[in-house]
Amino acid sequence: MLEIIGKRRSIRKFLPKDVEQEKIDEILKAAMFSPSAMNSRPWEFIVVRDQELKNKISKATQWIGFVKDAPVLLVIAGKEGRILPSLWIEDCSIAAENVYLEAANQKLGTCFCQITGSKTLTIAGKDSEEYIRKVLDIPKGIRVLCVMPIGYPNEKKEEHKESEFDIKKVHNDKY
Ligand SMILES: Cc1cc2nc3c(=O)[nH]c(=O)nc-3n(C[C@H](O)[C@H](O)[C@H](O)COP(=O)(O)O)c2cc1C
Repeated sequence: MLEIIGKRRSIRKFLPKDVEQEKIDEILKAAMFSPSAMNSRPWEFIVVRDQELKNKISKATQWIGFVKDAPVLLVIAGKEGRILPSLWIEDCSIAAENVYLEAANQKLGTCFCQITGSKTLTIAGKDSEEYIRKVLDIPKGIRVLCVMPIGYPNEKKEEHKESEFDIKKVHNDKY
C-alpha cells in the first residue's frame, strides 16, 4: 500500500503559519489529476485566504468552526451534469481525496468538511450550500461539496492501523 494512505488523517488544528502558494498549487494540480465521469472535470476550486471570509465560512455548519484558524480554505464546488446531474458529487469527492493525499505528502493537514445537505449554524434552517454560495459569490448552477482547511498541523495523529482492516466488510462473490 502507498505509505501516504496510512499516514493521512483529518487535521483540525493548525499552526499560525502561512502555507506557500506553490504547495497550494501542487495540491490543486493533484485535485485536477483526479478521474471524473466521462472526463467531465466538473470541479471548481475557491482558495480563500481572507480572514473575514474564513470567519463567515466557519459558520456554514455546526461542525466546522475550527476552519477559521486555518491559513487557507479550499472550497470544492462542481457543476451538475446534463445526463446524470449528481455525478459532480462523486467527481469532486475523488478530487477531495487527492487533496487529502497531496496535503499529507506536503506535510500539511486538511479535513473534509461537509457542506452539501447541511444546515447553517447562524441562520436557523438555512441551507449551508446557499450560505457559502452567497458568501463567495458562487453562481447558481455550481454546487458546493465541502470546505477543506489547509495548514501546517498543530496536532499529532496516529497512522492508520492494521486493525482497521475489517474482513467482515469484504464479501466474496455474493453479499
Ligand atoms: C463525507 C465526509 C464528511 C465529513 N465532514 C466533516 C465535518 O463536517 N467536520 C469534520 O470535522 N470532519 C468531517 N469529516 C472528517 C471525518 O470525521 C474523518 O474523515 C473521520 O473521522 C476519519 O478520520 P481520518 O480522516 O483521520 O482517518 C468528514 C469526512 C467525510 C468523508
